[in-house]
This record gives sequence, C-alpha cells and structure tokens, in this order.
Amino acid sequence: MTTFTLPFQLDFDPHALGEFPASKTIIRRLSDMSAYYQDKAKVAELLSAEDPTIYRFWEIEQENAPRGLSFGVTCIYAGSIGSEFHMTKGHFHTSPGDELYITLSGRGKLAMFSREGDVKTLDMLPGSMCYIPTAYAHRTINTGADEFIFLAVWPPSIAHDYETILKGGFPQLVVKGEQEAVQIIENPGHQRV
Ligand SMILES: [Fe+2]
Repeated sequence: MTTFTLPFQLDFDPHALGEFPASKTIIRRLSDMSAYYQDKAKVAELLSAEDPTIYRFWEIEQENAPRGLSFGVTCIYAGSIGSEFHMTKGHFHTSPGDELYITLSGRGKLAMFSREGDVKTLDMLPGSMCYIPTAYAHRTINTGADEFIFLAVWPPSIAHDYETILKGGFPQLVVKGEQEAVQIIENPGHQRV
C-alpha cells in the first residue's frame, strides 16, 4: 500500500505487466476457481493434468482511505473451462464505492447484477469504459482468442464480498456456443443469497 500526494504519470506496457510497479499481485489458477465453473467433470479432468492460470491482477492500493484512488490492471488469459470462458471470481462491494473499468487490450464482457434483480452484461473492447455502480456485483470474462487486459479504478475505502458469488453464482453465464459464438445464457444454478 502506498499514498499519493503529488501528481504523477505512470507509463506501462499492458503486454509487459511483470514490470508494472504493483504493491500486490494476485494469481488465480483453476484450483482457486473450481467452485465457480459449472462443468465439474471438466474441472477435475483439467486439474488432473495441470493447474492453468486463469487470470492475474496487479494493483496499487492507496492506504489513506477514504481519500484518493486505488487502481490495478487485470489480465484474463484466453481459454474456457468446458463451455464457460475464463473469468474472474466476481464480487459485490460491501461499502459505498463505485468502480471504473477501461479496456486496454483484447475483448471481453462485464457481467453485473444487483440484489434487486437487475442483470446487465456489457461489452468490453479497447476504447470502451464501463461504470460499475456500488450496488452491482461484477465479473469480467475473456471472450476472445487473446489476453483480455483492463484497468480498474476504485476508491480505497471499499470492502469486497466474494462469498455471495461463491454461494449463489451470477444469474447469467457467458459461454462458447456453436461456431465459437459468444452466448449469454441463464445460469440454472443461480441462487439468491
Ligand atoms: Fe470491484
């Protein structure tokens, strides 16, 4: 964690994120995500041979909340587990704080839903920005053939709830259909938690 009190510029190559000056790096492998995918037989089959990396996250957190902004870059690697594309775990914010996603490279989707039952799935492409209001759970999905990389900006005061998604999932699934078509379907296993 760090504190920014002076203006600064940060230049980085989204394809060389190992050089990003992160204060924290998170790696999510399939073994960390097995509960999140629908096709448990495929998960077991893949894990018996390897433990692929699904995504990495490099972040710089501000330590003097509530002022300032934290930010980070996520790279979701291309691929799927059964018909479900590689994706992040997804979470709710448990304290007020919106978030901004700006796509740097590749293509993907942003799945969101609120506890009131509103469900949204947005496109994420280079040049697009997505705004995530506090009340919406959010997950990103790589629907392309290349790495999907985006910048996230959020207030450092927010806390995260991953448990609700782990228990109840998202109402929508982003899957690979016939001829590699990207489809958004209803998640039959979704439960309101
Ligand atoms: Fe978030």
